[in-house]
Amino acid sequence: MFKGKFLAVCTALLALVLALPASAVAQATATKAAFSDAEVNASLQAAHAKYKNLAEGKNADYIPALAKVDPNIYGIALVTTDGKVYTTGDITSEVSIQSISKVFTMAKVMEEQGADAIEKTIGVDPTGMRFNSIVAVEFAQKALGGPEINPLVNPGAITTTSMVAGATRDEIWKNLLGFYSDFAGRPLTVNQEVFKSESDTNQRNQAIGYLMYAYEFIKSDPARATDIYTEQCSVNVNAKDLATMAATLANGGKNPVTGKQIMKAENVPGVLSVMAIAGLYDDSGKWLYHTGLPAKSGVGGGLIAVSPGRFGIAVISPPLDDAGNSVRAQRAIADISNALGGNPYAAKADQSGKSRAE
Ligand code: DON
Repeated sequence: MFKGKFLAVCTALLALVLALPASAVAQATATKAAFSDAEVNASLQAAHAKYKNLAEGKNADYIPALAKVDPNIYGIALVTTDGKVYTTGDITSEVSIQSISKVFTMAKVMEEQGADAIEKTIGVDPTGMRFNSIVAVEFAQKALGGPEINPLVNPGAITTTSMVAGATRDEIWKNLLGFYSDFAGRPLTVNQEVFKSESDTNQRNQAIGYLMYAYEFIKSDPARATDIYTEQCSVNVNAKDLATMAATLANGGKNPVTGKQIMKAENVPGVLSVMAIAGLYDDSGKWLYHTGLPAKSGVGGGLIAVSPGRFGIAVISPPLDDAGNSVRAQRAIADISNALGGNPYAAKADQSGKSRAE
């Protein structure tokens, strides 16, 4: 009798122990796909409809080719860390990636030289100034006395590009474009019209390149660094490319669509933290306050955002606000992410019923 009870208790305990990992896995799966296909599609479509006719902002025109891009292009894509792709609106049109490229060049240099290379050479602090501010460099140099900017503003970005490995310009470029393409999961190409237009008008960036050389941040030919930087900004992308790139960051550096590990998981948090403090330039704080998402904008009209462990999202829509960020993209991403519970800071109280005090 006693033996029978004992056996029954042992069997029950064993079943419990065996069930534990399974329930942990179930919980992890639930966290990954905490929303249904219908919920995601509804949130994408609602945001598309809500902002389709929004007439605020205007295309960047300091790069003449960007002023000619159709301001009505408006595409939204969301890619989950388990590789599901959701899209709505215009997902075939491409825009130039512009400053969003800075994220992936930063990642490339971290992969090649380690995380310290970025922090020690450039810095990982916000400037609070415009993306092409020269005053920010002078302030960091004179008042702060060292590498106190970041790889997402132009001076830091041109310096980061100068650090990409390669014996020749061609080798550096292939290295970089191949890396971007791995993130997108398809071979990306350059918009030659934008590249030429920006090359003809980028005297300010050339000056920034020389300034960074004069201060010995850039150690190689600054004109070549600015030229490669200009080409990297001219890479064409659609909303799905950008969302897949963002989802790769959300997924610890592994492209969730192709399954290829593109960068080391250990380097991802550093990239995301700089996106959080500087991804939308002087409006980064406001953005983070409302969404909690590391993000990055480009003057071509693209915006990516990352909900770590959950999804990457991107919108392309060329009209920009005064800080240089797409107006529709900011609103659409904030709505969608908030609808899907994407804010990583929005933790709910533990529901297990136990507390430390008990
Ligand atoms: O260097 C520039 O001015 C452009 N190629 C990139 C600037 C940019 O995208 C700023 N983003 N919001």
